[in-house]
Amino acid sequence: MNVRPDRKTHLPVAEGAVARFPRHVALIMDGNGRWATARGLPRTEGHRQGLEALRRTIRYAGKIGIEVVTVFSFSSENWRRPETEVTFLMGLLRRFVQRDLSELHEANVRIRVIGERSNLEPGILKLLEEAEELTVSNTGLELVIAFNYGARSELVRSIQRISAKVQSGELRIDQISEDSVSEALDTGGLPDPDLIIRTSGEMRLSNFLLWQAAYSEFFFSDRYWPDFDETAFDEAIASYSDRERRFGGLDSGSL
Ligand code: FPP
Repeated sequence: MNVRPDRKTHLPVAEGAVARFPRHVALIMDGNGRWATARGLPRTEGHRQGLEALRRTIRYAGKIGIEVVTVFSFSSENWRRPETEVTFLMGLLRRFVQRDLSELHEANVRIRVIGERSNLEPGILKLLEEAEELTVSNTGLELVIAFNYGARSELVRSIQRISAKVQSGELRIDQISEDSVSEALDTGGLPDPDLIIRTSGEMRLSNFLLWQAAYSEFFFSDRYWPDFDETAFDEAIASYSDRERRFGGLDSGSL
């Protein structure tokens, strides 16, 4: 029988066994504002502490052997927030990339950015592209930063990319498949998220990874994002590990 090592325990697991450890975890980091308001602090302090929680989570995900972590750091809808908050979030991303890039690179983290790039401030765009270029050959944790991201707009971009291929004669309409749509998304080449975690007690997907989440498991934590720590992450993974994923089929006991 073929065996592969379990990513957490590194013990051999029989081929075909139920995957007990998520390869790809996606995070909706919600509740920064409420965390701050509950403490009488400005919302921006919640975002600052949210960045600390993100740093902690990336380190821990690498340590326990998760392959891909996708974080929803700024949605296409977040532009509707007060200008001061938008400016703060842009500055936070800039500081995160500037300050943490060398450490992430040393830790063998590969950075990938998903989302709409056309309306980004050129300075930020350049920084994000440099981070991707520097880490492109890294083989450790893949950190996917969803920035200026909305899943519907990503799907539109995917359709545009496919249509361009049809128009140029590279692809026939009857060759368009689920695989070609997946490939044309910003996340092309990545495994779909096994587990999506949303903090702060909200139970919505909020236009995040709509196509990719078709068979994802969900975990909703009542904690606000700045309070998300290793224990909360373990709790989400333990919950995932206890579930049986059938991908539309029957469980093995019914066969
Ligand atoms: C949601 O909380 C969070 C955001 C809109 C921003 C997420 C950003 C971070 C965690 C900062 C670090 C990330 C990077 C890469 C810069 P909310 O403000 O909507 O909270 P609320 O619902 O309580 O108001």
